Amino acid sequence: MAQQQVNNSPFLKPFFLKPQMCSPSRSRQRRHTLPASEFRNLTPQDAISVFEIEREAFVSVSGECPLTLEEVLHFLGQCPELSLGWFEEGQLVAFIIGSGWDKERLSQDAMTAHVPETPTVHIHVLSVHRRCRQQGKGSVLLWRYLQYLRCLPGLRRALLICEEFLVPFYLKAGFKEKGPSAITVGQMSFTEMEYLLGGAAFARRNSGC
Ligand SMILES: CC(C)(COP(=O)(O)OP(=O)(O)OC[C@H]1O[C@@H](n2cnc3c(N)ncnc32)[C@H](O)[C@@H]1OP(=O)(O)O)[C@@H](O)C(=O)NCCC(=O)NCCS
Repeated sequence: MAQQQVNNSPFLKPFFLKPQMCSPSRSRQRRHTLPASEFRNLTPQDAISVFEIEREAFVSVSGECPLTLEEVLHFLGQCPELSLGWFEEGQLVAFIIGSGWDKERLSQDAMTAHVPETPTVHIHVLSVHRRCRQQGKGSVLLWRYLQYLRCLPGLRRALLICEEFLVPFYLKAGFKEKGPSAITVGQMSFTEMEYLLGGAAFARRNSGC
């Protein structure tokens, strides 16, 4: 169902970053079945690849990942439709994991909870493979994810927390600052950011949902 939603979204049609090599025969083409570039919801089978990227991104920097492997498995099992992965030739290069949340602001409980059928998505993590950073992939994936969320019925906004140095990145993506977050992890404090999805009617009118 989630996969179907992605495939039906006009924003998430797989596209090809690399020019296709002309190949002389159809049988030859068939051997190369992995798309050069593909966006799709993640599944629990992707959890190890997700966690490897996450571990490299966060453990060396802060000593902690936003999500443990168990939490990744939990969210990809509970709400795969709120995740999005970018695959190049079958390899995960960037991902977002979200879950449902039912309060105005994020609190410590939001770190591990998925509240179904709520108008708010909590984006737990956006991470790009270290070899693929600073190439625009984080921004593109986030944009695609937000466009995709607009097409999911009932969703109104996305919330996330980030460290101060990433506030400009999220402002550029259209988020607004909501102020200091109540959530702390060890010594780390965060800013809460909000993105208004504009409502389903707006999304349908403007994006062909
Ligand atoms: C943050 C992250 C997702 C950005 O993805 P990306 O593909 O590298 O980013 P883009 O190429 O789309 O955009 C680059 C912009 O991101 C911002 N940015 C990225 N990393 C940054 C950092 N470490 N410090 C400050 N700004 C940073 C800058 O605004 C930069 O713009 P500039 O090139 O004009 O300076 C990626 O660097 C990453 O995975 N980092 C590790 C995990 C993480 O911190 N995730 C976010 C919190 S969940």
